[in-house]
Amino acid sequence: MPSILVTGAGRGFGREVVRVYRERGWMVFPLVRQSADVEALTEVDGCYPICADVTEEKVEASIANVLAARTDALDLLINNAGNIKKTRWLAETTIADMEALFRVHCVGAFRCVRAALPFLRKATNPLVVNISSRFGSISRMAQGEFRGIYAYSIAKSAQNMLSVCLDHELRREGIRVVSLHPGRLQTSVAAVDADTDPYVAALKLADWLQSMDRDKACGLHDLLGDKTIAW
Ligand SMILES: NC(=O)c1ccc[n+]([C@@H]2O[C@H](COP(=O)([O-])OP(=O)(O)OC[C@H]3O[C@@H](n4cnc5c(N)ncnc54)[C@H](OP(=O)(O)O)[C@@H]3O)[C@@H](O)[C@H]2O)c1
Repeated sequence: MPSILVTGAGRGFGREVVRVYRERGWMVFPLVRQSADVEALTEVDGCYPICADVTEEKVEASIANVLAARTDALDLLINNAGNIKKTRWLAETTIADMEALFRVHCVGAFRCVRAALPFLRKATNPLVVNISSRFGSISRMAQGEFRGIYAYSIAKSAQNMLSVCLDHELRREGIRVVSLHPGRLQTSVAAVDADTDPYVAALKLADWLQSMDRDKACGLHDLLGDKTIAW
């Protein structure tokens, strides 16, 4: 049975990704922070929750322990955990926000990849998907499409660089890494122009990953626009 680990799976997009893959018969490892989410997910057949915070060092042991108890190989890791500070411009942005968002979106994803790596190495076509954002695109920011959301944009941009570094290092072992903007989703962090049900986006994600060209260079993929967008 193929297996997937999704971080930030207690609500929003992550929860819907877990739902879709469970519906498709995969073994699912949702990483969540709240004990209520662990309890609810434990009752789902084929679902093995990991209770952890991706910004804490012990997340690596938590991932390794839960995976080792259930599987040798992990086919798909989705680094989705994240939050946003909608503060704007220099005046509103705090150092604490900058550091917190970098820790979750970039360092947290790094930790999860490191913990999952021994299991990814044993899968046939392993893949890591880092859930990025249009706000992390330097070229779109430079064109003035978005403005002033420093902490989140910088953290997602750093995560994009993480994707490229990881892909360069791991593709020679057959592990591919991609960045993906999931669309404007109607979740708790929704932007004012959010227009997409996260379950619909999760279905699209699963379909796209099934048919993606594994030989393409690591890029930033716009899921709903179905195209690669500029970094
Ligand atoms: N919504 C959009 O339009 C949109 C657009 C582009 C990109 N994204 C990205 O998509 C991803 C999912 O966002 P969403 O819209 O589904 O947001 P959401 O509904 O707020 O869900 C975020 C999830 O991440 C978890 N999380 C946050 N910090 C964490 C940490 N330190 N350790 C572990 N889990 C953590 C949260 O856990 P708790 O429930 O415990 O708080 C929650 O389950 C994020 O990376 C976001 O930046 C979203």
